[in-house]
Amino acid sequence: AAAHGPRRRLLGFEPVEPGVADEVVLPDGYEYHVLFPWGHPIVPSGPAFSEDAGNSAADQARQAGDHHDGMWYFPLRGSRSGLLCVNHEATTERLLHTGGEADWTPEKTAKSMAAHGVSVIEVEQGRRGEWRLAESRYARRVTMSTPAEITGPAAGHALMRTGADPEGVRVLGTLNNCASGPTPWHTYLTCEETTNKYFYPGEEAPPAGSPQERYGIGSESPYPWYTTDERFDMRAEPNEYLRFGWVVEVDPFDPESAPKKRTALGRMEHENAVVVRGRRGEAVVYMGDDSQFDYFYKFVGAEPIGRARAHGRSPLDEGTLYVARFEEDGSGAWLPLVHGGPGLTEADGFADQAEVLVYTRLAADAAGATPMDRPEWCTVQPGTGAVFFTCTNNTARTETVNPANPRLDNRYGHIMKIDEHRDPAAEKFDWDVFLLAGDEASGATVPPDQAFGSPDGLWFDADGRLWIQTDGTQPQVDGADQNNQMLAADTRRGDIRRFLVGPPDCEITGITATPDGRSLFVNIQHPGDSGTPEDPRAGSNWPDFSRTGRPRSATIVITREDGGVIGG
Ligand code: FEO
Ligand code: CA
Ligand code: CA
Ligand code: CA
Repeated sequence: AAAHGPRRRLLGFEPVEPGVADEVVLPDGYEYHVLFPWGHPIVPSGPAFSEDAGNSAADQARQAGDHHDGMWYFPLRGSRSGLLCVNHEATTERLLHTGGEADWTPEKTAKSMAAHGVSVIEVEQGRRGEWRLAESRYARRVTMSTPAEITGPAAGHALMRTGADPEGVRVLGTLNNCASGPTPWHTYLTCEETTNKYFYPGEEAPPAGSPQERYGIGSESPYPWYTTDERFDMRAEPNEYLRFGWVVEVDPFDPESAPKKRTALGRMEHENAVVVRGRRGEAVVYMGDDSQFDYFYKFVGAEPIGRARAHGRSPLDEGTLYVARFEEDGSGAWLPLVHGGPGLTEADGFADQAEVLVYTRLAADAAGATPMDRPEWCTVQPGTGAVFFTCTNNTARTETVNPANPRLDNRYGHIMKIDEHRDPAAEKFDWDVFLLAGDEASGATVPPDQAFGSPDGLWFDADGRLWIQTDGTQPQVDGADQNNQMLAADTRRGDIRRFLVGPPDCEITGITATPDGRSLFVNIQHPGDSGTPEDPRAGSNWPDFSRTGRPRSATIVITREDGGVIGG
């Protein structure tokens, strides 16, 4: 029997080489199955996928969306069947429609909106171990048209009101659903990330120093939705964009329930949301804001989870939002973003707590947070409670470093570690750089044969393996660019091994496992998105390899030929 504790060896596979193949490459003894590609019906009886992208918007609303990202497996029958919630972050419009973006129509807007959001599907393992979708009363799509509720301190605020919603409590849809997190009460958090690019401000970009500029509203929208739907035209609906950029709670076990936008968790380019229980039983949520020089946050609930729920209150609607400051000496502080505090008074331009939350970034600027190199996913280490988070890269850091972001022109990124000494509600912490990614020339602290760049997805599995998924520049091999990858790390032994290499143009993102650890779900996002309507297979033809098809984002499920624990 294996020894317990830190001496047990966590990684039992032979690492794979970096690569450029149009395939998902795994270690010997592993196999994968494409479970849920873009366009796949959410129940077997649903509308079939047309490989020429000819499905209608109505079909798309009953099929897998595009750009699969964060996800989570909620057991129904343990490790044999469960509900899988899958985010659909964005779309590749060139490949989403037959003929691409040319001759844009309201139907194309509707299809693109239906390809965003979340899928809830029921998955089950057959007798021979194969995973498949089931007909299910839980199966549903949440799209950019699904009625959602605004809850918490900003609900009903003047900034949340629009022509269609004069009360500021109800919004259609959720947008740019990046990564995710499960709650202890078995719901799913889906995080709205780069929502700015869907809203058109008019030909003039918002002025420098304006809240719109701070939230990345430019002078154009790469999504032509505004050309057919006024709610995306900021001249007609100046507040609609403020109703996006939140953490949204979806109850997969209640298909009739409306998604809830939890405004107490702040508005930013949310990456993921990791919920743990504090010492008083309250919800503590860790969150990154993925932009250059943006911040790392946590929310601490006001009351124990059980008490809130017993009184019909959400554990995520009342509490304190904090932003992280990293000091030179390896200590750190969580700065509360509370109206009336330093820099957050009416005289500073914040009328009330709702404004502090709607303009979280401005509040965090005023509080003195530490500008980071694009904080993406975070995860909490089993047993120690240490919080790890990725800083994916930041090539715009050309002038000043700080101790938590030590490299100029940080093209390969790094991974941070925060230690709150087993008190998730603590207002102080200690921190360390866990690793610097990249190649030897960039000063990486990773063995050269396991080099990687742009860490993004990050997840500790139940055994304590740290899974690292990449999105962006990888160290070259013999002068050639390499595909994105996924690695596993044994943080106690300092062992790190490349587990997976994806097809061209894709990022690897989204990860969840069955409770027994023997089936691992991973998302391959936007393979071959350099393809065009004329040549859709120019970048990749994964996963169908059809001579008349196109590449598709997909959820894959990885198993071991001997049925063992993945990574072990
Ligand atoms: Fe959706 Fe920052 O990745
Ligand atoms: Ca993405
Ligand atoms: Ca990401
Ligand atoms: Ca990324």
